[in-house]
Amino acid sequence: MESKRRNFMKNTARFAGVMGMASVAGLSPLFASENKASGKSSGKSSGQDSLTKSNSKGEKMKFVTFNNGVKMPILGFGVYQIEDLKECQRCVEDAISVGYRSIDTAQAYFNEEAVGAAIKSAIKGGVKREDLFITTKLWISHMNEKDAFKAFDTQLKKLGLDYLDLYLIHQPFGDVYGAWRAMSKLYKEGKIRAIGVSNFYPDRIVDFCLNNEVIPAINQIETHPFLQQHEAQKILNEYKIATQSWASFAEGRNDMFKNPTLSKIGAKYNKTVAQVILRWLIQRDIVVIPKTTRKARMEENFDVFDFTLDSSDMATIRAMDTNKSLFLSHQDPEAVKWLINAHKGKL
Ligand SMILES: NC(=O)c1ccc[n+]([C@@H]2O[C@H](COP(=O)([O-])OP(=O)(O)OC[C@H]3O[C@@H](n4cnc5c(N)ncnc54)[C@H](OP(=O)(O)O)[C@@H]3O)[C@@H](O)[C@H]2O)c1
Repeated sequence: MESKRRNFMKNTARFAGVMGMASVAGLSPLFASENKASGKSSGKSSGQDSLTKSNSKGEKMKFVTFNNGVKMPILGFGVYQIEDLKECQRCVEDAISVGYRSIDTAQAYFNEEAVGAAIKSAIKGGVKREDLFITTKLWISHMNEKDAFKAFDTQLKKLGLDYLDLYLIHQPFGDVYGAWRAMSKLYKEGKIRAIGVSNFYPDRIVDFCLNNEVIPAINQIETHPFLQQHEAQKILNEYKIATQSWASFAEGRNDMFKNPTLSKIGAKYNKTVAQVILRWLIQRDIVVIPKTTRKARMEENFDVFDFTLDSSDMATIRAMDTNKSLFLSHQDPEAVKWLINAHKGKL
């Protein structure tokens, strides 16, 4: 265990290294990505440069740096709704071959073992474990201190890993404080490099931060052009918590991929709507994890580091915000009941 812990600490130190990064007005020092639209840089350190990775076409990956110094690729790959295990394994293998290193799964996606199989084959093919960034999440039915330990062990086994990069509370329901105590202990023991939350609205975040010793590294929330989360991001920045977008494309709702405003912006740069959305989020220092089962789209979604939206594009997209969820509100009693009952008997 001690040698595992030493390895973990070595890896963490490799991924970290920018704690003392220069702060730039208006930009949180914890974010390592450049903000070209505003003409500002967050002050790259040599630590970041040594971690910059390229895909097969030589495009550079950017990273965000958490409040504990751990770095996460700003672009990753999500596997929600890919429940067929063979298909999920194939998708993750394809994504890794395209250049993705960060994979986002969850207990409630029922595909952790497929992600594990893909990781195993990637490592066999020469990808280093420490270059991968694996996230999974704890579901509501295990949301208490005792069950969280057990769930974590099972999840780690399914993923075939001996440590996790990021472990999230999936929904803000159940005994989240008990679960967080367990997660904090696992984090301090070196079994998880960073812990965070998902679907926590600003009121929950403030309560959580003021009543816990370990502050979440990240909050994964619904974020796309129709729900932009500017206010939420402000609060998250206050606590140095990174913002992560789920459903960056709103899963295509509202005819997202044919949106005329986004198409027009894309035409300026010879980019697709999907690329414009991802680039817009990345320029806001928001971590993205788009999902697709098609390799050509994985490549398209990865190809977002060679252009910069200008300030007028950013303002145009900002005007699209309706500040309304296209999925469900975590403050709606019916949605809360539905979520708590989801997966009953399965998880
Ligand atoms: N924490 C949470 O509560 C939560 C909730 C939802 C999602 N998530 C995470 O966030 C990830 C992303 O969200 P999501 O999967 O819900 O939705 P999403 O990424 O917004 O959209 C996925 C949809 O967009 C399509 N698509 C992807 N790239 C495309 C492209 N370049 N052009 C056209 N269509 C494209 C995909 O179709 P094809 O597959 O057919 O290409 C799929 O139907 C999930 O996989 C999961 O990891 C977390």
